[in-house]
Amino acid sequence: MSKATNIVWHESTVTKENRQKLNNHKSGVLWFTGLSGSGKSTVSVNLEKEIHALGIRTYLLDGDNVRHGLNKNLGFSPEDRTENIRRIGEVGKLMTDAGVLTLTAFISPYQEDRAQVRALLEKDEFIEVYVKCGIETCESRDPKGLYKKARTGEIKGFTGIDAPYEEPINPDITIETDKQTVEESVQVIIEYLKKVGYLG
Ligand code: PPS
Repeated sequence: MSKATNIVWHESTVTKENRQKLNNHKSGVLWFTGLSGSGKSTVSVNLEKEIHALGIRTYLLDGDNVRHGLNKNLGFSPEDRTENIRRIGEVGKLMTDAGVLTLTAFISPYQEDRAQVRALLEKDEFIEVYVKCGIETCESRDPKGLYKKARTGEIKGFTGIDAPYEEPINPDITIETDKQTVEESVQVIIEYLKKVGYLG
């Protein structure tokens, strides 16, 4: 694919600040990262329900869903995962500009890819949530039967089995889904959002 040239950025007259003021809350990206089966989707779905009820404009981007549409041309090679995360990061930036609090639930196994997304956004607009869970627990949950397939070699390059997962070095929030209930994890994140001014 060739790169576009002669393109010029257009500023709109309605700004991110105008939209945030109208919504009466800050916007940004709550970035969930963790192994398959760690609970990223479950916690983010439950969290979205709660903060939506509090009047926050939210949108949830989930790995499996995005890979059905925007990123359906991508697989699970290291390069494709990096491109997957880059695109989600750009979508998160657009959503932030639109005044929305976006929740993203992707394995996002590489530290550098997550750092690139953080760098796209303003300092307090990117909140990294490490969904920590031992691989034994993730594997025992195996909601889609993928760990089983990875163990038999039917799936190659599966995160945590024969592909890497780089743990966040300094996440903003860590939840431990093999120790906490979903509701406890949701409350930890809500408290953090209050502390940093996303929730009144
Ligand atoms: S990544 O690494 O961030 O690009 O992955 P993501 O877009 O979040 O997609 C992860 C979901 O895809 C399924 N799946 C795999 N995961 C990891 N490795 C391999 N090889 C793989 N193949 C398919 C799996 O269902 C993941 O879903 P979750 O919700 O994480 O369990």
